[in-house]
Amino acid sequence: MTADPHRAAKEVAVARAVQLIEDGMVLGLGTGTTAELLFPWLGARLAQGWRLQGVASSVRTEALARGIGLPLVPLTHPDQLDLTIDGADEVDPQLRLVKGRGGALLREKVLAQASRRLVIVVDESKLVPQLGSRALLPVEVVPFGWQVVRERLLQLGAQTVTLRREGKALFHTDNGNLVLDCQFAAIASPEQLDIALHRVAGVVEHGLFLGLATVVLVGRADGTVQELWAERP
Ligand code: A5P
Repeated sequence: MTADPHRAAKEVAVARAVQLIEDGMVLGLGTGTTAELLFPWLGARLAQGWRLQGVASSVRTEALARGIGLPLVPLTHPDQLDLTIDGADEVDPQLRLVKGRGGALLREKVLAQASRRLVIVVDESKLVPQLGSRALLPVEVVPFGWQVVRERLLQLGAQTVTLRREGKALFHTDNGNLVLDCQFAAIASPEQLDIALHRVAGVVEHGLFLGLATVVLVGRADGTVQELWAERP
């Protein structure tokens, strides 16, 4: 396994995010290599007697939470989560995001929308001038008729649309759906694309997270963290 060259930067960003957690909070738990770095911190807080609860964005994250004894609760109301901490694949200057390389985009967006604050932790390689310039945009689709949805995504301007696989098998999300990874040279209007994607029957959700991030914490290899707030806390 190759070492993650961004690990140190991710760690300092996560350490800063941990400072925003308070005793008694209900947390949204993100998915991915950055969000996973949170769990030793949460384990330490629980060991100190903090009463934290969580809602996991994936089966994988649920296992990590159980591993540290973090109580998991069902998500039942719209602003239930005090704070969600999650990673991202791209962040633009307006703090719009592309997420979902880990395939958990649907549950991640449900958590993001149910959170009073969404804290995004990234290393600086995730900062882009325009969404779509670095990462593929994942689109979660129902298995029925996915080929038709693929054609529609090409009509919407995607240069390539690739059905995600896991080895030789098809990749299925935790919701039993498929993922189409779309390459857009750059996404001129994420808001328009958001609307257009939601008009396509068969699309369950996509990886554009618009107007959701409260703060993006950008970890750097030199140990500093840049804080990009959507609005001052
Ligand atoms: C999971 O589905 C994704 O949205 C991740 O949050 C995103 O891909 C960032 O992952 P890393 O922290 O592993 O880069």
